[in-house]
Amino acid sequence: MTCLHHLFLGVLLPVAAGTCPIGFEPVQGNCTDENECEFDVPICGDNAICHNTLGSYYCQCAPGYRERSGRLNFTQDKSKGCEDINECRQTSDICGPNSECINVPGSYSCTCKEGFMSSNGREVFNASQGVTCVDINECRQTSDICGPNSVCENVAGSYFCICKEGFMSSNGRDYFNASQGVTCVDIDECQMDLEICGQHAKCKNTIGGYNCTCDPGYRLQSELTTVTNSSKQCEEMSNDVVMCKKL
Ligand SMILES: *[C@@H]1O[C@H](CO)[C@@H](O)[C@H](O)[C@H]1NC(C)=O
Ligand SMILES: *[C@@H]1O[C@H](CO)[C@@H](O)[C@H](O)[C@H]1NC(C)=O
Ligand SMILES: *[C@@H]1O[C@H](CO)[C@@H](O)[C@H](O)[C@H]1NC(C)=O
Repeated sequence: MTCLHHLFLGVLLPVAAGTCPIGFEPVQGNCTDENECEFDVPICGDNAICHNTLGSYYCQCAPGYRERSGRLNFTQDKSKGCEDINECRQTSDICGPNSECINVPGSYSCTCKEGFMSSNGREVFNASQGVTCVDINECRQTSDICGPNSVCENVAGSYFCICKEGFMSSNGRDYFNASQGVTCVDIDECQMDLEICGQHAKCKNTIGGYNCTCDPGYRLQSELTTVTNSSKQCEEMSNDVVMCKKL
């Protein structure tokens, strides 16, 4: 007790019988605090921080690590060592929506899922930075991403392509994307529907549409002699039983 009292008053203690208390070492005839944190073999083990105190020391696990038995402060003899904290598993959704969490020793990092980008423009971030993953509008980001004669539709995390009216996708699917090498090819409406122009008429395919022309001796029911405008008009007229009637 007296001894400790002396220790706290002054670091130095005269070396009596040539020995010093545990935690002290003789230096120039005095017992001086021994810095356990400077031992050749780290006294706290891996991934720990050593704090020297007068006559002793204590250890704490480094940020991102925890002591296996849950101790905050520990010494060599009372420790099972420091293990990595898996922040991704410990705090679910630590990176926020539409992100991916990657645990690394002592830390973790966040990236945005495909089709999303971080609000600060950095590929890698963490929860302390207030970053969110926002949808990438692929249709706007890459102009003509779907190729000619198509329409691009953005959706959360992705996009899809559809062919414009009068065109069909080269793989026959209604929806496709740029990775599939699909093109929008003209539909030959005249071949698709032999009756499209009705009776007594000739069908002529155009890029993205078709025209109907009445056979000689026939005329359209309306004043027009041919349907040369939009395919829409042709389609509407094709619903009529007779488009071309005898002159
Ligand atoms: C750990 O050690 C520090 C510094 O001595 C002290 O302030 C803290 O209260 C200790 N924590 C625990 C849980 O022992
Ligand atoms: C989070 O990122 C900031 C800035 O890059 C960095 O200073 C900090 O150490 C990171 N935190 C974690 C837990 O990785
Ligand atoms: C493109 O389509 C393929 C096949 O359907 C799909 O696996 C892929 O995720 C799609 N890519 C995008 C960016 O939507």
